[in-house]
Amino acid sequence: MEKILVTGSKGMLGCDLCPILKKEGYKVIETDIDNLDITNFEITEKKLVKHNPNIIIHLAAYTDVDKAEDNIETARKINFEGTKNLAKICSKLDIKLIYISTDYVFDGLKNSPYEPQDKPNPINNYGLSKLEGENAVKKYCKNYIIARTSWLYGIYGKNFVETMLKLSNKENLKVVNDQTGCPTWTKDLSNALIKLIKENKIGIFHVCSSGQTTWYNFAKEIFNQMNLKVNISPCTTEEYKSTAKRPKYSVMNNNNIIRNWKSALYEYLELR
Ligand SMILES: NC(=O)c1ccc[n+]([C@@H]2O[C@H](COP(=O)([O-])OP(=O)(O)OC[C@H]3O[C@@H](n4cnc5c(N)ncnc54)[C@H](OP(=O)(O)O)[C@@H]3O)[C@@H](O)[C@H]2O)c1
Repeated sequence: MEKILVTGSKGMLGCDLCPILKKEGYKVIETDIDNLDITNFEITEKKLVKHNPNIIIHLAAYTDVDKAEDNIETARKINFEGTKNLAKICSKLDIKLIYISTDYVFDGLKNSPYEPQDKPNPINNYGLSKLEGENAVKKYCKNYIIARTSWLYGIYGKNFVETMLKLSNKENLKVVNDQTGCPTWTKDLSNALIKLIKENKIGIFHVCSSGQTTWYNFAKEIFNQMNLKVNISPCTTEEYKSTAKRPKYSVMNNNNIIRNWKSALYEYLELR
């Protein structure tokens, strides 16, 4: 069976992905900043030579979108330089590289779902650093998957679903209603990645849930499914005032690789 090394395995996605990979029978090497800092080329090369995996699923990233506006150097070091290190080593050692990217590589000016071949044009530093990572993967590797995902939630990390549930007793909760995207459960994403591996896919894929919603309607659906009566109203991005700009519309065409976001949310809320 194939050996898969995962970077950033202690993050929200990694904590769901690694057990699912093991259950599928893969030999999994879990790494994170404490035992493999991907920004250090020599250490990374040594580790990869030692473990000699067939595949790397590269999740490690600087993921704080707002803080990346002030910390562009740190975000670039991890998301671009770290990814470039992995891409160069994977090419040399003949390892397949699977890089998790984001809908935030797009500017959000389209009004129909983004296709994998659409031209990225990030409007914040996080999106820019992730796009530079994508470009490094394409430059150095032949055998790669760039899997763009969006609006992730799962039980192992800070995310919108858990934040809304914590805020559900707040008076007059305001939620942004002019950004539209695809909420995606980390478990659904993990299973879709395994499907792409099994089908020996190469290239860029959009790996998010089907359907689309705004943050406000996503929040309403969470409260409806939980039978919670919440005093919630819509607001604009401008009113909410966050540091980083976000695309108004980042829906991606996923070719039905993942089910509709509402049914995934239902299962997540049942299981959590
Ligand atoms: N969350 C979303 O909504 C979303 C949407 C689209 C795409 N993505 C992408 O999906 C992937 C997984 O996201 P996630 O939400 O699971 O992120 P996460 O919870 O922030 O996990 C990322 C992990 O990478 C680690 N890390 C940071 N710098 C590192 C380094 N230099 N070397 C090795 N590990 C390092 C982090 O450690 P520390 O916590 O100690 O920094 C953390 O454990 C990321 O590539 C992200 O860009 C996420």
